[in-house]
Amino acid sequence: MRRETGIRDDTAAFLADLPAPAGGARDVSLEWPGKGAWLEGGLGHDERAVPRFHRDIEGEPQQVARLLSPKLLTGFTRWDGDGATDCAALSPQDNLLIRGENLQVLATLRRRYRGQVTLIYIDPPYNTASGGFAYNDRFTRADWLSFMRARLLFARDLLAPNGSIYVNIDFNEAHYLKVLMDEVFGPSNFQREIIWRIGWLSGFKTRAKNFIRNHDTILFYSRDAERMTFNKAYLGPHDFAPRFKPAEAAELSATLEREGLAKSAVRRVMKAAQSIGLPARYPVEDVWNASSYDRLNSVAITSYAGESVSKLLGTQEVKGQKSESLMKRVIEASSDPGDIVLDFFAGSGSTCAAAHKLGRRWIGVEQMDYASTITLERMKKVVAGDRVGISKRVGWQGGGSFVFCQLADWREALLASGENPDALAGRVRALGWLLHDGAGEAWDWSRFDALPDAEQRIALTRAIAANPMPVAAGDAHDPLLALTDAENAINTAFQSADR
Ligand SMILES: C[S@@+](CC[C@H](N)C(=O)[O-])C[C@H]1O[C@@H](n2cnc3c(N)ncnc32)[C@H](O)[C@@H]1O
Repeated sequence: MRRETGIRDDTAAFLADLPAPAGGARDVSLEWPGKGAWLEGGLGHDERAVPRFHRDIEGEPQQVARLLSPKLLTGFTRWDGDGATDCAALSPQDNLLIRGENLQVLATLRRRYRGQVTLIYIDPPYNTASGGFAYNDRFTRADWLSFMRARLLFARDLLAPNGSIYVNIDFNEAHYLKVLMDEVFGPSNFQREIIWRIGWLSGFKTRAKNFIRNHDTILFYSRDAERMTFNKAYLGPHDFAPRFKPAEAAELSATLEREGLAKSAVRRVMKAAQSIGLPARYPVEDVWNASSYDRLNSVAITSYAGESVSKLLGTQEVKGQKSESLMKRVIEASSDPGDIVLDFFAGSGSTCAAAHKLGRRWIGVEQMDYASTITLERMKKVVAGDRVGISKRVGWQGGGSFVFCQLADWREALLASGENPDALAGRVRALGWLLHDGAGEAWDWSRFDALPDAEQRIALTRAIAANPMPVAAGDAHDPLLALTDAENAINTAFQSADR
């Protein structure tokens, strides 16, 4: 029997509060097959065969509630510059790095952070149809839009009245996303379409028989245009592109010396020549890295900034990693120190790293295993005072802390339970998560029922191991999970309405 956990589920209220679709005969809205879909399914490397292992559960209220209800968090560890310490409680001041599928995590964050987040920056899969990413980046357009819509609806709910959201994207989906965001946030909350020139042209890129592609798009929306925080940004001399390249400056200096100018005079002339006629400051435009005032490395791509996590940690690369200077520009414009910054496609943690160094509170969410091997390791270095990214620019010396945790998952508990296949099957059936059999086929209970007993155990074990099964917050006291008292207390407090 389920024990009283003190955790309420307000999914129904969330669903009732969804923004109304654009109305009126003259309004334009984006339609696609299965628009109202609540797609459940894995989004990692193993589940590339999307949409086969996605299930649309629209019209099944209980299944929708299961997907969108708060889940349990587990494995809390607090990290500061001296290493790990016990985490017996969470405070609203805590920074959080959460490993888990972001729709589940957003549903979990909702009760505590609803209307509290000042800035959301996300850098989701661009839907490039490329297999070259560790995570899934190959959706049908309809599935990608449903995937984004669900997460944007939660994002909207989490934003504070003065909050903003920035979505980094490229040509593959930018224009569909713009219409979707108009619908979710309202056209009046559209703020800017930022064109971010991402790099210099080099060999491979220049071969296309076409104009060379060289920008990402960042869509910037507010929660409420009248109340949005915006700190107007200026470029200063530090950001300006130098008038002369190093080789040109050297040649000009040599010429001046040949003309008889002393070395010290040459230095003074060169300094003046580099800056003469430049403004003291220049407001940041919505085209980044493309004017003579905004030199490429002011918001550089990571390879130029030399801060790729693979280099920093000696690990694999997180493809698509953004630079801390890019994040600094976004964070400083749309939040103030102490505000909460959220990135639920955190990747290597660039948003979290920059937010931490800039004195913001932050929440990062990443589904892949590298949340523990890369993102966590990077953030440990940040609190210890790393010297990369924006550290020098902002005088970062280290400090602060964060809590790492993850979505609790039934898999381990079920596999360790030793229950007979019948009992185990009963439990798994009731949980309702199984999507595939771990060997490329959709899970089918009637096929399972027809198997001999011995094969049932093998089939079920394989399927359980292959399908993430987040634990509903209401199941906290199930003895099979063996959560510690501290974990139970943190989860109950986390889901309590009284912050
Ligand atoms: C382009 S990368 C983000 C890179 C990041 N901006 C950085 O600087 O490192 C997108 C990330 O989103 C993660 N992701 C995709 N779908 C997700 C989901 N449903 N839940 C959580 N993370 C997800 C991927 O695993 C990947 O790490």
